[in-house]
Amino acid sequence: MSKPVLWIPRKLSANTEKRALDTYECILNPDDHPHSAQTIIEMSAQVDAILPCHSELFDESVSAALSARVKIIANHSVGVDHCNLEALGKRGIVVTNTPDVLSDATAEIAMLLLLGAARRAAEGDRLVRSGRWTSWSPSFMVGQQVSGKRIGIIGMGKVGQVMARRARGFDMSVHYHNRSRLSPELEQGAIWHESLDALLEVSDFLSLHCPATPDTRGLLNASSLAKLPKGAILVNTARGALVDEDALVESIRSGHLAAAGLDCFVTEPGANPAFAEHENIFMLPHIGSATRDTRDAMGFRALDNLDAFFAGEQPRDRLV
Ligand code: DGY
Repeated sequence: MSKPVLWIPRKLSANTEKRALDTYECILNPDDHPHSAQTIIEMSAQVDAILPCHSELFDESVSAALSARVKIIANHSVGVDHCNLEALGKRGIVVTNTPDVLSDATAEIAMLLLLGAARRAAEGDRLVRSGRWTSWSPSFMVGQQVSGKRIGIIGMGKVGQVMARRARGFDMSVHYHNRSRLSPELEQGAIWHESLDALLEVSDFLSLHCPATPDTRGLLNASSLAKLPKGAILVNTARGALVDEDALVESIRSGHLAAAGLDCFVTEPGANPAFAEHENIFMLPHIGSATRDTRDAMGFRALDNLDAFFAGEQPRDRLV
């Protein structure tokens, strides 16, 4: 029997591509160029399955225009806001994602951003690197202590739970807001706040770990940011769409927020040029899951979903 044809639009880990080539007739992208909506539509006529990343957009119009040949979109991401699930579902296209396997890597980056924003890491590096470090005094580059403070976590799924464990390592008290309260075993002493406002009020640090959906877009806006204690620090490793970026800039400018650590932006790649004017916004280019181990794990999880589908079984991470 001939192998199903699989399009892998971005360059994945060598181990993932090797495994994919064993099972599928693969169309790869060795120079890793991005793809337009038109290319995605055209390519869909040549393939049975697509293994995309969050950089490939399957919005309503792309989903409607995909060839009927494509049977499954096995995402190499946990976030699926680049996919219009309803439109893809209507086309009868199966969609999967890669939960769980990137929780440790993403929580590491969230902790890095939290510490870096609190202790002015990027600013300090810029100072030393540029040769502008010319004096030292006890009042020099004073930041915020993390140990013993309160962290608020929005979205206590897998990544949020790992973040809570890491934060406990810094003796932080953990508070969270989630649609439903976790069991005591999962909560590990974390305090659940039924309302977002109640969480915001106690969050010296606020870390976002929920998906971007129509309900959560702009969740952090002028009104919600104002409810954080003065001097709070915001960390976002989830999705840029959760934050109203103008409101964030204003909150930083006014001094209400002491700092922010961001790995996600409304516009990616590129981010928001207004952020670069503020030394106290510590930014990374969406690298939450970018470790060798996690890239392999994400690729393998996507391939597991494809293998199950083509074996006539239910893919473990089927969303529609
Ligand atoms: C994810 O998996 O959603 C990460 O943001 C990388 O795409």
